Formats: sequence, C-alpha cells, structure tokens
Amino acid sequence: MTKKILVTGGAGYIGSHTCLLLLEAGFEVVVVDNLCNSSLESLRRVEKLTNQFIRFYKVDLTDFDSLSKVFDDHTFHSVIHFAGLKAVGESAEIPLHYYEQNIGSTINLLKVMQANNCKRFVFSSSATVYGDPASVPITEDFPISATNPYGRTKLFIEEILRDQSKADKDWQIVLLRYFNPVGAHKSGMIGEDPQGIPNNLMPFISQVAVGKRDKLSVFGDDYDTPDGTGVRDYIHVLDLADAHVKSVQKIDQFRGVTTLNLGTGKGVSVLEMVKAFEKGSRKSVAYQIVDRRPGDIAECWADPAKALEVLGWNAKLGLEAMIEDTWRWQSNNPLGYEPSE
Ligand code: NAD
Ligand code: UD1
Repeated sequence: MTKKILVTGGAGYIGSHTCLLLLEAGFEVVVVDNLCNSSLESLRRVEKLTNQFIRFYKVDLTDFDSLSKVFDDHTFHSVIHFAGLKAVGESAEIPLHYYEQNIGSTINLLKVMQANNCKRFVFSSSATVYGDPASVPITEDFPISATNPYGRTKLFIEEILRDQSKADKDWQIVLLRYFNPVGAHKSGMIGEDPQGIPNNLMPFISQVAVGKRDKLSVFGDDYDTPDGTGVRDYIHVLDLADAHVKSVQKIDQFRGVTTLNLGTGKGVSVLEMVKAFEKGSRKSVAYQIVDRRPGDIAECWADPAKALEVLGWNAKLGLEAMIEDTWRWQSNNPLGYEPSE
C-alpha cells in the first residue's frame, strides 16, 4: 500500500522540493500549511511537474482542533515537520511569537500524533544549534547552544523530542541539522521566494544579479578566514529534499532519536560565492564591505559522514548547480510566485 506522509510547512521552500521528491519516490503527500510565508502556487507547480495530486489543508499548527481533524481524515506513515518561522532578526524582536509558533506548534503536532499512534517524525533542525563552534568541520556530537530566540526554538524542540523518545520508546525520530540550503528545482518552476528583503546570502545575491537590488552588503572582511569573509556550507535544496525521502524510507530501522548533519563538508566564503555567481549567471554582482552582522560566526561547515553511514546519503550537487538552478528560478520568476502581469 502507498505510504502517506504528512508534510507540515510543505508549501515553503524546502517543503515544496521535498513534496516533489516524495511524490516521485511513490509516496502519497498531505500538506498542512498556514501560508504565512509561502504561496499555494508552489504546490500547484509541484503537481504540474509530477502530474500528481497533493491534498492540502490551510491549517495553523497552533490550532489543535483543526490539526486533529486532519488526522481524522488520514492514517500517516510518518510526519516531516518543516513548518516554523525562521527569521533570526525578527525572532529577537518578537520572541514570544516565535516560541508560541515554533514550540507551541510542535507540541500540538506531537500530541496529535501520539493520540493517533503515529510515531515516526522527521524534524527540520539547523546548524544554528552549534552556536559558535570551537572548530570545523562540525560533527553531531559537538556541544549545542543558541544565541537568538530562533536558534533556541530549534534547540528546545530537539530537547523536547529527546524527552519524548525517552518517555515512549516507540517513537522513531530523525533530527536533520541543515547547513545553508540554496538552489532550486532544475525546471526553474519552484524555488525560494523570500518576502521583503532577504536575510540570507544567496537570495540577496540573486536579487542583485536580476536587478531587483543595487548591491550586496558583505558583512565583514576581517574574520579569521582565507579572504576575511564568512565561510559556510551551502547545500542544494534537492540534496536536502533527498535526505528527507531517505529518512522516511529508512525510519523503521531507527530507534529513538537519530541526529544527522546535512551539509556538503565544503566551506565557501562570501566573496567566493559572489565570484562564482557572476560566472554562473554572467551578470555582475555589485557589493560593498560593511560591518559584521551581530551574531554571525566566522566559519561553519559540516562533517557529513554520519548521514552517509546511517542514511546512505551524501550531497551530489556542487556549487555550479546551486548557482545555475538559483539563477534559472530567479530569472524565470523575478517576482517569485506572484503573477508577473
Ligand atoms: P519556509 O518559510 O519557506 O517554509 C516554512 C513553511 O511553514 C511556510 O510555508 C510557512 O507558511 C509554514 N508555517 C510557518 N508557521 C506555521 C504554522 N504555525 N502553521 C502552519 N504552517 C506554518 O522555510 P524553509 O526555508 O522551507 O524552512 C523549513 C524549515 O527548515 C523551517 O523549520 C526552518 O526553520 C528550517 N531550516 C531552514 C533553513 C534555511 O536556511 N532555509 C536552515 C535551517 C533550518
Ligand atoms: C543564517 C542565520 C542562521 C540560519 C541560517 C540558515 C543569522 C545570524 N543566522 O546563518 O540562524 O540557520 O541563516 O538559514 O541570521 N552575508 C552577507 N551579506 C548578506 C547576507 C549574508 O555578507 O546580505 C554573509 C553572512 O555574514 C555569512 C554568509 O553570508 O557569512 C551566509 O549568511 P546567511 O545566508 O545569512 O547564513 P548564516 O549566516 O549561516
């Protein structure tokens, strides 16, 4: 029988790419999303690309009763939980909202799952839980900490999941710690559609290249890195999505909590990214060096060996594909999912 997966936040950036790969892998997909940071158009396009149907519920996960009703309609094999707010700066301005939305939602979801005896859970965590790591590359056993409310929501949710797994040994939980997701589907039909001014590097660069913004501010060139700018582990969103498919395929072999880094194991600096983007898009990307961004760290890249060992997963797409695919999405959809006329 076809396995049915509940994808929370499935209309968002990483969720929509994962829905696509889940459908291609033969799963049935149900999405719950309140569309606070996404558009239903992403899922319509996934349906077009796969020629398959996605059952969609516009539900806020903080609404326990509406969420329960979704579980009345379906029996899920497992849940992939992407839904959440993710803007670091905003989380410091409205921390209670972030705690309510991210942690409140997750507790509701876990309670509804428990009540329905659905105990396979894949969670979107982040490399942000490593705080300012003592060294690189980072392995999963590094100490965890947080420097802002967003990061603390990830950390607390990880702890909640560890507690739940200790209390009830039937839970099978995969914590996926993403490094820096970038890129888009090869078709150029789905991609990242940030609202307002992008916080993250790649969407900002691509909006400069397409002429939507004047120039990139490079946040500091005095870090202890080869060219002085910040170094990160950028990972193609399709590689990330593939790790989620493999997680639900293998989850029955896991017991308790399995924690995995999802990165490429390679660090790229801000200036290297600018140069590579100019080459890939054949557009110039104007930039100026400005002060460091508060809370930023010098270097962050993964040791992804455990994901290979446990999941049989490793990142296959390199920087060139990340840039090519971002650029195709950005130039085909300069206004994101908004209609262009
Ligand atoms: P996104 O904003 O594109 O997707 C999140 C989705 O969740 C959106 O569609 C939004 O409408 C929905 N949502 C938010 N709160 C909700 C609620 N209360 N009820 C129902 N739906 C809700 O973000 P993304 O980049 O696809 O990230 C997905 C997950 O991965 C998030 O949990 C994020 O914190 C985590 N993550 C993202 C990154 C990144 O750089 N993109 C890095 C590490 C971890
Ligand atoms: C940010 C978040 C982190 C989150 C991660 C992935 C902060 C402080 N941290 O981390 O919690 O897990 O995104 O979503 O926001 N840069 C510029 N100019 C820009 C944007 C970024 O120079 O306009 C630089 C940054 O200083 C950094 C690199 O580019 O060196 C990558 O930045 P970004 O894409 O925001 O990711 P992170 O800093 O890793």
